[in-house]
Amino acid sequence: MAMTPAEAAERAAQLRALLQHHAHRYYVLDDPQVSDAEYDCLFQALQALEDEYPALQTPDSPTQRIIGQVLDGFAPVRHTVPMLSIRTETDTDPSGAWAFDARVRRELSLAPSDPPVIYTAELKFDGLAINLRYENGVLVQAATRGDGETGENVTQNMRTIKEIPGQLRTRGALPAVLEVRGEVYMRRDDFDALNERQRQRMADGDRTGKTFVNPRNAAAGAVRQLDPRIAALRPLRFFAYGLGDFDGWAGGPPPSQSALLEALGAFGLPVNADHAVVSGGSGLADFHAAVQARRGQLPFDIDGVVYKVDDRALQQRLGFVSREPRWAVAHKYPAQEQITGLRAIEVQVGRTGKLTPVAKLEPVFVGGTTVSNATLHNLFELRRKRVRIGDRVVVRRAGDVIPEVVGRVEALRPAYVPNFRMPRSCPVCGSQVLREPGGIDHRCTGGLYCGAQRKQALLHFAGRRAMNIDGLGEKIVDQLVDGGLVATLPALYQLSLEQLRALGRMGDKSARNLLTGLQTSKQTTLARFLFALGMRHVGESTAKDLAAHFGSLDRLLAASEEQLLAVRDVGPVVAHTLRLFLDQPHNRDVIDQLRAAGITWAEHDGVAQAEPLPLAGQTFVLTGTLPTLTRDEARALIEAAGGKVAGAVSKKTNWLVAGDDAGSKREKADALGVAVLDEAGLQQLLSDIASA
Ligand code: IVH
Repeated sequence: MAMTPAEAAERAAQLRALLQHHAHRYYVLDDPQVSDAEYDCLFQALQALEDEYPALQTPDSPTQRIIGQVLDGFAPVRHTVPMLSIRTETDTDPSGAWAFDARVRRELSLAPSDPPVIYTAELKFDGLAINLRYENGVLVQAATRGDGETGENVTQNMRTIKEIPGQLRTRGALPAVLEVRGEVYMRRDDFDALNERQRQRMADGDRTGKTFVNPRNAAAGAVRQLDPRIAALRPLRFFAYGLGDFDGWAGGPPPSQSALLEALGAFGLPVNADHAVVSGGSGLADFHAAVQARRGQLPFDIDGVVYKVDDRALQQRLGFVSREPRWAVAHKYPAQEQITGLRAIEVQVGRTGKLTPVAKLEPVFVGGTTVSNATLHNLFELRRKRVRIGDRVVVRRAGDVIPEVVGRVEALRPAYVPNFRMPRSCPVCGSQVLREPGGIDHRCTGGLYCGAQRKQALLHFAGRRAMNIDGLGEKIVDQLVDGGLVATLPALYQLSLEQLRALGRMGDKSARNLLTGLQTSKQTTLARFLFALGMRHVGESTAKDLAAHFGSLDRLLAASEEQLLAVRDVGPVVAHTLRLFLDQPHNRDVIDQLRAAGITWAEHDGVAQAEPLPLAGQTFVLTGTLPTLTRDEARALIEAAGGKVAGAVSKKTNWLVAGDDAGSKREKADALGVAVLDEAGLQQLLSDIASA
């Protein structure tokens, strides 16, 4: 039903207010509440309304201007040459390319018999537009686009990006003034690693930490980070693609967009190699399709491609219409973020026992496929995003990564929805579920007993450094488990020649080889056997230490947590998880059955620790990101020297090992007068005691 003019006016005002709100979240706070798709939807609704009732079109309408605003704290920079936006073909099929070519030909009054127009086709990087100003080859200023006329001075932050040269390379004369335009962006792998670090910080109790929704927001947030030291920690990159102001350029600017890209590259600026000089609408459409096919394999996000008339003289003839060049257009791809309903949250158990909350969604087309499941990562993330069953959520699927729920749009839940909880027992095998102190992930302690972990457990058990079972590889494990022949480790030793022969693709010879392999594996060592059980934290060297320390399996099985702590390389976390594993009756059954199947090793009385290790009795706490060591590596080094690693700083803490962005733990350590080491200090301490 048609609206009355009064209703239309009210609706337009509502849409304008909504768009302004979301634009502020997006452009100014870098913290959007809705997906790009939802924003576009609102935008188009307003545009349609204004088209129908032109009287509603006000100069301050979001449809009439470039949104963006200078953040307090950055000095404004007036762009000598305005930073324009370009028209977007919202059609995601090839027709957008043809439509652009037809428009260009019309504007240039070309006849159908005239030759095709030549274009440069580029990727449309999903980042933040930046203007770099070089004077006599030296970077003097970097600014964001802002509202196109005035941007923010972000020179300091841009100087922290290694790819942006502080000084242009010369071959011959440099222009006196050269403004380079391009995009600051973040690669997807860098983005994932950044978010992983942020998650770790939050798990460490840093309440100011947050994860970023997508690489674009992370990049935009870093560019406009008021503290350049924090900006420097964010892995930003840059691609140059255009020209702003210039002066004193011998011979003038290059005669075409493709020549400009080449010249920028020669100056030492990063230019993405993935561009092409193509001919006519068909060349553009082919480029669009070809890039779309490998969009997921690109290391960064793109939201489309950009077509530019190659010839500079033609560009000038085409000129501008309402602040948009007629010679360039952006041609989009389907969105990588969509909004949909969250129907349920289920828990999945991975091959390593990790429990992942998985969102069951109303199916939605995103990033090129229909998605109905998406990861919620872990309980921390889920709580932080405050998603509950019934909500509208933003789903993101970029590249070939697993789709994820990145946030909540609206709480549309029924009146009462209980908070999601991780199950106490594994949904697959019923074993106890645990979260390690200081850890983020919940895990099933079922190990080899758990159906979800079975194949992995069998392969690990058979591995060369474990039971070394010849002939038991991935394919056979798949067949044995999928065919229902092997559900537990001991069942391996019950296999008969007939059963193996009956498996598809298994010849008589390989069946016999496997049986021989199984037979031979029975004579082993205690260390190999312990390692083969695949207990969490018990790697090869801890297995050796346990075997050497206790000498016999029964003594190990009977050891208390305190007695386990006395073993070299075993800290509180390891002792605790080990004890839990050994206390599960089904794990004891597996061990008994394996022994009953004939697995044996030589036992001895065990060796008493010759002398206490140098760091025995010393408690360490780790915090922040260390320059070279991972947390686990640092922990291993400390524990190998006899020290303990605890999760929180207390009066009992002897040392705090602090890396970059150490937060509350550092403050607590300082308050308690705990000694603080950086990574170099830790290495020094370890080498001092090693040589003492
Ligand atoms: S050219 C006058 N080329 O997309 C032409 N823009 O509205 C100016 N973008 O603000 C833009 N990749 O932030 C151009 N290869 C590319 C681009 C690109 C990404 C962004 C840029 C611009 C927006 C278009």
